[in-house]
Amino acid sequence: MNLHPILVHFPIALLTLYSLGEFVRSKRVLSLSYWFYVKAIMLVIGFLATIPTILFGKLIADSFPERIVRVHSTFAQTTAIVYGLIALSYLITWIDKDIYSMTKRSDWWGYISELNKNIFRPRTLVLLALTGLILLTITGALGGIMAFGPGVDPLTQLVNDLFFGK
Ligand code: HEM
Repeated sequence: MNLHPILVHFPIALLTLYSLGEFVRSKRVLSLSYWFYVKAIMLVIGFLATIPTILFGKLIADSFPERIVRVHSTFAQTTAIVYGLIALSYLITWIDKDIYSMTKRSDWWGYISELNKNIFRPRTLVLLALTGLILLTITGALGGIMAFGPGVDPLTQLVNDLFFGK
């Protein structure tokens, strides 16, 4: 039995919720002390879930048409890279908030922390969360096309027409 069709739900649900959370820019919500952790947990677990999902996907790849598997797999791996970068940034911020707020930071950590703050500014995170969500949606639609056919819903039809023609 292959676990891919079961595992796919974890990155899809958690990373979609994380991205939606990142789009919330209301000051009231952003100032909630737990909001960062809510997003961080969905993001990190969602990203970690992409690893077994991809590995189990590769195990069944040979049983499906090569072209669509290749496109689906490329989108899946790009999605994992985008969310992986955001997760890395969140982990650095998390360590900064909860460990280095109590102890003195070493020089090299100070450098990593500054680099993180400069690269992953709030707007960049929103843009990356949007990019990840678009990639994740296309990945899911391509998976849906393989499992149920292109006509299963309007999105799979659109993605199928875009990538493989009418
Ligand atoms: C983040 C990573 C991935 C996500 C979110 C994802 C998502 C999906 C989804 C939603 C389906 C439809 C499942 C169903 O309802 O039955 C699917 C099917 C499929 N995926 Fe993935 N996928 C990922 C990675 C991969 C990779 C890397 C490969 C192969 C190299 C792969 C190969 C397949 C194949 C062959 C199917 C059709 C299997 C079936 O009919 O159940 N997937 N995928």
